[in-house]
Order: sequence, then structure tokens, then C-alpha cells
Amino acid sequence: MTSLPYFPDLDSIGSDVDMLAEIQRLRTAKNVLILAHYYQESVVQDLADFVGDSLQLAQSAQKTKAEVILFCGVHFMAETAKILNPNSTVVIPDLSAGCSLADRCSDLVFQNWLKDYPDHAVISYINCSAGVKALSDIICTSSNAVRVVNSISPEKKIVFAPDRHLGKWASQKTGRDMVLFPNSCIVHDQFTPSKVRELKARYPVAKFLTHPECSASVTSRADFVGSTAAMLNFVATDSAKVFIIGTEAGILYQMSKVRPDAEFLSIPVDSSGSCPLCPYMRLNTVEKIYLALRDLKPEITLDETLCQKALKPLQKMLALG
Ligand code: 13P
Ligand code: SF4
Repeated sequence: MTSLPYFPDLDSIGSDVDMLAEIQRLRTAKNVLILAHYYQESVVQDLADFVGDSLQLAQSAQKTKAEVILFCGVHFMAETAKILNPNSTVVIPDLSAGCSLADRCSDLVFQNWLKDYPDHAVISYINCSAGVKALSDIICTSSNAVRVVNSISPEKKIVFAPDRHLGKWASQKTGRDMVLFPNSCIVHDQFTPSKVRELKARYPVAKFLTHPECSASVTSRADFVGSTAAMLNFVATDSAKVFIIGTEAGILYQMSKVRPDAEFLSIPVDSSGSCPLCPYMRLNTVEKIYLALRDLKPEITLDETLCQKALKPLQKMLALG
């Protein structure tokens, strides 16, 4: 019998519940580690024990002794936490928090695509399902993609999935020719050279930082390209006073904390000047976090054999540091 899908029942929250106080009580009572990605809204970041990029969050999930991990991010991140720490209960505020990269590269599509490249090393970006990870030789994140590509012996051919932009960027940085899976991030795809040009013209002293999930036509115009954590580190140590940030706007919260003297500008994604927000990441709310802690649902569950297969390429990546 298959179980019914879980939907957070917001109506079950009594009107007298002090959710922030309850979250504090429940996290201690149930020995919960709360992890949050930089793309969460600021109130969620403030609730977390640790806020980080994909690699840092995977490392935290791997080493924690907490009985429960509450992952405020998207599904592939929570799934990765479960693979790395199968003895912990892993819950996510909203099970439908997907990712265009993971969702548009199903296990079956990926398996069929790989048939054309039997003699290639398979590198997969961590933004993919456990099934895709299990079919890969090694995983990478945006912060270690170059190191991972360089770890493959020079005579070996490489396929890279499921982000063609990150793959192209890593290919340019390493000089390695790679076959790229045709897929991209819907958030970073909204940035165009003309939008960047327009902002740079308005703020000529600004430094432009961007994520490698952007197209080459955008990354080629940047002063710095790196993961969210790398961008945060850049602004913390750079002397510029104005920065144009080419990624999801959630990171601006931490940037403003480390550089209260600097100005941070998002690239607007429409004519009304809206900031770039990941629709999946933003499904997580305080209400759903409270429910996840109260009910320890929805829980990430994985087939044990699949888990073991997906663990190997993840461990290879983590061993590289
Ligand atoms: P990083 O966390 O590696 O910066 O990647 C951003 C992202 O899009 C996560 O889905
Ligand atoms: Fe996926 Fe893009 Fe959202 Fe990151 S920002 S979770 S890559 S859709």
C-alpha cells in the first residue's frame, strides 16, 4: 500500500500558539539540528543552527549527532542529508520544494542519456535526485566543481549533469571538454546580459558577483563567480562599497550582516523591479517549520540500496574537501 501524500495542515495550528516560542521548545526537546540554505527568507535563516551553501550544509548533515535534521532548503538537499546520515530522521517543511535542475532530469531520462557515453566519467551536480546520484561517479557542488573536474584523470572523457551552465563554467576554468546535460536553473536563467549592462551603467563603481548557475554571457561580465558561500566571503573581504549580486536574493541578508557599510543590489527579474526568488526555496515558512517540528513530518525516506549507491559518489566528493 502506498502512503498518502503529506500536506502541511496549517489549519491545525491553534490561534493561541506562539510559533516562535514553540519552535524553540520543540527543537530542544526533540534534539533537532535546523539547517538552512542562504536562499531561505531571513526569518527562516535566523531560526537555523547553521546557514550555508550546498556543500557546507551537506558537511553539517554528515557530521551531526542530532536525532533529527530539519532541512530548510529544497528536496534534493534534504535527501542528500538523509543519504549522508541515514540514522537521523530528516524532515523538510514542504515536501514539494523541488528544483528545476533536479526535477527536469529524471532517473530514467538520465539513465537513457548516459547510454551514449559508456566510456565517460559521470560528474553530477548535487542538485539532482538520489537516483541520478546513484548513476554518477562523483558529485560536485558549485563551490568545488572545478576541483572535482580536475580530480578526473586527463585521458578520461567526462559527462556533466544536470546544469549545463555550471558545467560550461567548470569546463572553461579547467580546460576540460565535457558533454553537458541540457538543463538549467529557472532562477539564474532570468539574468540576461542586457539587465547586467543596465545595472552596471547605473552603478559604475559596483562590483558584479554572480553564481556559476548563470549563463556564460552573464558570468563573463562578472568581477567574481562563485557559490553563495564564496560570494559571501568575497564581499566580507573586498573593499568595494556597492555590489550587484547575480543570485537568489536570500543571500543579501547575510551579506548585509557581514558588510553593514555596503550596498547590495539584486538584478531585477521584471519591469516592476522584483528580486530574484527561488519559488521552491520560498515554500518553507515559519508555520511549516513549526508543523514539521511538532509532527516530525514530512520525513525523507529512501530505499536502503539506493541510499548506499548514492552515498559512494557523495563520499568521493567530500573526501576531496
Ligand atoms: P550553492 O549552495 O552551492 O551556492 O548553490 C546554489 C543553489 O542553487 C542551490 O540550489
Ligand atoms: Fe534549484 Fe535554482 Fe532554486 Fe537552486 S535556485 S534550488 S538551482 S531552482
